Amino acid sequence: MILILFFLVLLYCSTQTSGVSIQIHPNNTNVILTELNKTVSLTCESDGVAEGDNTLVWLRNNAKINLKEENKKGRSTVCITPVKEDNGATFSCYLHSNDSVKASVTLNVTYHPQLSGSENVTFEIDETLVLQCDMRANPLLLSMSWTLNGTTVDLMAGGLSVTNDGVTSVLRASKVVRKLHEGTYECTATSPVYNSSSKVFNVIVTEKTLKFPLMPLIAGVVVVFVTTLLAVVSRWKKIIKCCK
Ligand SMILES: *[C@@H]1O[C@H](CO)[C@@H](O)[C@H](O)[C@H]1NC(C)=O
Ligand SMILES: *[C@@H]1O[C@H](CO)[C@@H](O)[C@H](O)[C@H]1NC(C)=O
Ligand SMILES: *[C@@H]1O[C@H](CO)[C@@H](O)[C@H](O)[C@H]1NC(C)=O
Ligand SMILES: *[C@@H]1O[C@H](CO)[C@@H](O)[C@H](O)[C@H]1NC(C)=O
Repeated sequence: MILILFFLVLLYCSTQTSGVSIQIHPNNTNVILTELNKTVSLTCESDGVAEGDNTLVWLRNNAKINLKEENKKGRSTVCITPVKEDNGATFSCYLHSNDSVKASVTLNVTYHPQLSGSENVTFEIDETLVLQCDMRANPLLLSMSWTLNGTTVDLMAGGLSVTNDGVTSVLRASKVVRKLHEGTYECTATSPVYNSSSKVFNVIVTEKTLKFPLMPLIAGVVVVFVTTLLAVVSRWKKIIKCCK
């Protein structure tokens, strides 16, 4: 009887020391959905360590997070505020004494391009027209569209091109022509989850200004003046000599 009890106690103790479990709260299928500028608080708890070192360690993508001494024992909380470039970042927690049991969560930070307002932009005839809109978003945009005076830009007719590299959408015309390019442009970002946002550009086309090469001109004038002066001076000496 006593022997059985002894074994039970032994069994209990061994499950207590080796059956360590680490949990992070909240933990919705290991992905936490959040938004830019929000706050996320994660708590890690270790269960089953009756004795020994129950110091916890937190990692953000394999880099250790500095924790205060009182925020390490058995239970530890990290606060990400505000959430910034943390999309896809993985936070994991384990016991300092045994890193074989780890709990992890990954952040899914959603955001939408902050497109708003209107801007006046001036281009000279024959200049390169370039308009840019931010298109970084999570989830990815369904589309980024450009309109001119309210209708979809006619790339062929306008000699325009649109390039999207996932970071910015760029509308470009290599040579500005007033009747083709003056007007009101708008870029619109359409998302599967957010309301669409857009930005307006009022493009004004001005006459070419004569870009005079002023500095070389001044330098040239100075050189001519000085040479003439020197010539006159040396000539003057000769003239004076002659008269003596
Ligand atoms: C770490 O924990 C695991 C799982 O509980 C256990 O099997 C292992 O023996 C432990 N390692 C050490 C060094 O305590
Ligand atoms: C997040 O905060 C930054 C800085 O305060 C601000 O510029 C930006 O517009 C905010 N973004 C969102 C989506 O709220
Ligand atoms: C993140 O959340 C968005 C919105 O629910 C979803 O569309 C997207 O697939 C998620 N991304 C990942 C990597 O889980
Ligand atoms: C766009 O509208 C403005 C104002 O009505 C007009 O002056 C301009 O010529 C139009 N642009 C094009 C390319 O049709």
